[in-house]
Amino acid sequence: MNADLDKQLNVFETKINEDINIEPRDWMPDDYRKHLIRQISQHAHSEVIGMQPEGNWISRAPSLRSKKILLAKIQDEGGHGLYLYSAAETLGISRDEMLHQLHEGKAKYSSIFNYPTLTWADIGAIGWLVDGAAIVNQVSLQKTSYGPYARAMVRICKEESFHQRQGYEIMTKMMQGTKDQQAMAQDAMNRWWWPSLMMFGPHDSDSPNTGNAMKWKIKRQSNDILRQKFIDKTVQQAHLIGLSIPDNKLKWNEDKKSYDHGEINWDEFIRVINGDGPCNKQRMKHHIKAHQEGEWVRKAAIAYQLKRKELINQ
Ligand code: 3HC
Repeated sequence: MNADLDKQLNVFETKINEDINIEPRDWMPDDYRKHLIRQISQHAHSEVIGMQPEGNWISRAPSLRSKKILLAKIQDEGGHGLYLYSAAETLGISRDEMLHQLHEGKAKYSSIFNYPTLTWADIGAIGWLVDGAAIVNQVSLQKTSYGPYARAMVRICKEESFHQRQGYEIMTKMMQGTKDQQAMAQDAMNRWWWPSLMMFGPHDSDSPNTGNAMKWKIKRQSNDILRQKFIDKTVQQAHLIGLSIPDNKLKWNEDKKSYDHGEINWDEFIRVINGDGPCNKQRMKHHIKAHQEGEWVRKAAIAYQLKRKELINQ
């Protein structure tokens, strides 16, 4: 490796070791850049695709208050997607290229959003479990080594806490309701529990990206550590409102001071992330249609910007 490259790598590694954020104009190894583009763009895709399952209930929310809360949450998710696409763009990839990769199936989004929202309790389960899992992951990502990503996480985590609380409020209310409402909440729990655990990714031993992610401090805690944190926190919340966890192997381990639990269905995980989940095709079809129908808005916004620049420079 030539002396100059050696020196740049040395500066990069010193910053990583000393927890100094890497910024867009800093030199970084190509593989670090590629790793970040992959993770941040997929994170952004997840935020935007995640608007679909919840959007399914805006017109059917049970009260004006719950409709307003759901609208605010979905709007937040769109904003999270924008922060993250902007963070990814600082690494040299265009928004168009990221969306092209998504539409061509070359980029992933979180498997959790390929499940249907069948009842109002699903909206509670998504807020409480899905955003709850996202918070555990994203609080950790606030300390990620790439500056724009870390700062986006700080902003996003503030809003995620509201998302998680409103979801738990929905589940709490239903568990205080009629027998039918309790059954609806437990059914949602049964359907969303295991897919929420899959959000943290494969076991560390099966994760091709965790090694580099930890070396470069992109990830500060591993998939399994974060998953366990989520389980330990959420089981107690479930029991507090009378919900049971659909895992007959779940058992408190006094020595470990955490819960032992059953094995995730990794065949289902692989199937869903490879496009064969209940809603994969529907989610992508909707995203592509919305993108095509929105082309005139993008064109108008660009034309406005160009005209404005022209007028200012006159
Ligand atoms: N869904 C889809 N793909 C998944 C996945 C999941 N739940 N878990 C892992 N994968 C993919 C990875 O992307 C990787 O594939 P790739 O190399 O083609 O990208 C492969 O499975 C192996 O997984 P790894 O653990 O090796 O990959 P990572 O080191 O990237 O870890 C991750 C996966 C934990 C999801 C990590 O990418 C991450 O922390 N991403 C940022 C957080 C994020 O994207 N969360 C998604 C949900 S966002 C959300 O819920 C928003 C909320 O507001 C609702």
